[in-house]
Amino acid sequence: MNLSNWREEYDKYSLHEENLTLDPYAFFKEWFDKAVEDLNPEPNAFILSTVSAKIEPESRVVLLKEIEDSQFVFYTNYSSQKGQDISAHPKASMLFFFPFSQRQIRIKGLVTKLSREKAIDYFSTRPIESQISAMASAQSSKTTKEELIEKATLLREKGDVTCPETWGGYGIMPHYFEFWQGQPGRLHDRIIYEKSHSQSWEQFRLAP
Ligand SMILES: Cc1cc2nc3c(=O)[nH]c(=O)nc-3n(C[C@H](O)[C@H](O)[C@H](O)COP(=O)(O)O)c2cc1C
Repeated sequence: MNLSNWREEYDKYSLHEENLTLDPYAFFKEWFDKAVEDLNPEPNAFILSTVSAKIEPESRVVLLKEIEDSQFVFYTNYSSQKGQDISAHPKASMLFFFPFSQRQIRIKGLVTKLSREKAIDYFSTRPIESQISAMASAQSSKTTKEELIEKATLLREKGDVTCPETWGGYGIMPHYFEFWQGQPGRLHDRIIYEKSHSQSWEQFRLAP
């Protein structure tokens, strides 16, 4: 497979320092809203990268459910690979890619487990089949299709649906945001917001 001639031109928007907000959350919201307007598919999906106990990088897609108390929130199984990684190294990188807007946002932060009450509250809002799947799935452990279907069928018959102890939310508290805007001729814009020692946000540009 040779993809060397596959090239996109990036010319949709540009990123000028004078148009930036001081607060990266406000800028994230602006870009997220634009991503929705530009019809990017699943704009709340992001690539979550973690580091395993063996110091191996691990990446997968998860869904952003809210930004609360300055934390980016997603839900998962605490016993999964990502859960084990976060226990070993409570740091993560998030990557949002909005191809129709020719943009990406990279965020780095510290990860903490959210409360059991919050997990139960959110779990109760999920469709019943999603609740059953969360109960039937020991996420990231070896299984068979038959075993999964059998577990889900038994749970459905019993009708006893509760939020598993191993299921819940994580909050990522960012200390670094990078907003990348594709530009003509590959002279792309990269604007960084980094938290300083005084806890204010410093802004600078990186070479593309
Ligand atoms: C669009 C999309 C959304 C997903 N959302 C979630 C999610 O919110 N939470 C989750 O645990 N897994 C989600 N997944 C599945 C994960 O990518 C991954 O397969 C799973 O969490 C196991 O990852 P791990 O073994 O690295 O822990 C999603 C996958 C896709 C493609």
